[in-house]
Amino acid sequence: PSLLRTAAQHLRRRDYASAAAAAQPDRKVAILGAAGGIGQPLALLMKLNPLVSSLSLYDIAGTPGVAADVSHINTPALVKGFMADDQLAEALEGADVVIIPAGVPRKPGMTRDDLFKINAGIVKGLCTAIAKHCPNALVNMISNPVNSTVPIAAEVFKKAGTFDEKKLFGVTTLDVVRAKTFYAGKANVPVTGVNVPVVGGHAGVTILPLFSQATPASNALSHEDLKALTKRTQDGGTEVVEAKAGKGSATLSMAYAGAVFGDACLKGLNGVPDIVECSFVQSTVTELPFFASKVRLGKNGVEEVIGLGELSAFEKEGLESLKGELLSSIEKGIKFAQEC
Ligand code: NAI
Repeated sequence: PSLLRTAAQHLRRRDYASAAAAAQPDRKVAILGAAGGIGQPLALLMKLNPLVSSLSLYDIAGTPGVAADVSHINTPALVKGFMADDQLAEALEGADVVIIPAGVPRKPGMTRDDLFKINAGIVKGLCTAIAKHCPNALVNMISNPVNSTVPIAAEVFKKAGTFDEKKLFGVTTLDVVRAKTFYAGKANVPVTGVNVPVVGGHAGVTILPLFSQATPASNALSHEDLKALTKRTQDGGTEVVEAKAGKGSATLSMAYAGAVFGDACLKGLNGVPDIVECSFVQSTVTELPFFASKVRLGKNGVEEVIGLGELSAFEKEGLESLKGELLSSIEKGIKFAQEC
């Protein structure tokens, strides 16, 4: 009887495993810029994600090494490395989610806007290839300045006739990750349960954390505390750039944030309900054509762009004062894509 019991348990486990496998579709994730400071730890984290069945690592150089290294990890995702232009098509073919951390990072003294010219060109080229080889993929844009690279991507897709506003995302998750960490530290609450929406854009004052909506709520924080937390969240990128003193910008925390957002996209595609993350998307939440806010993710990408909810007087002021800069970054992206 004990042998029978063991066999039955074994069978049940097998049933469970095959049912789980059947319920979970194959998903291909491509990372463009996979050999970089963000790309490598992001490749590692996506290799650990059980929802990924195929992981495609593309860069202009260095991907064979990164792919060989990551591929030895004993998780299911099948890893392949692709290098240089002539392998980009194969890297993208059949991708469900394309994550783009390709480009140059900020150095001390550089603003996100200084990066514009180089990264704008890189993003334009990569999006042209996406439109051709995997037009239905969800695109997670990490390359900065996100406030401009997302509008560039939208223009490229529009020109190619493949634009679907539900499938284009600026990854602002690092702002949320930072806001959660800084808030938990200041309010002295366990960080694990903390939630803070961050809206607006993804550079300096365009980043607007809504601490008035943070959960768990804290009445231990003064107005001055909230102002300081807002400033620290807005300047989080600069804090890392200065600490790295010439060796680039946030890579490890960004890889974590990119992996969180990529996972949310996969869960949405797979039909998991109530997946909500903040992201910079085409939006009617304000008068600006693109705006970051909470977004519900589903089988086709964005299922719902969620409104701002109630704002404090300080946040309302922040919202009004970010609009000018954000709109000009958006317009700069659109103009670049239309002219070049
Ligand atoms: P990195 O220089 O370490 O890596 C960039 C990688 O992109 C390199 O491996 C490079 O070979 C590759 N690359 C360049 N041109 C390419 C092309 N045409 N196709 C494919 N790959 C290409 O830079 P890092 O630190 O990984 O940063 C990457 C980007 O992410 C930068 O634009 C940076 O500003 C941005 N970033 C975004 C954040 C966000 O919150 N959204 C946070 C931190 C950085």
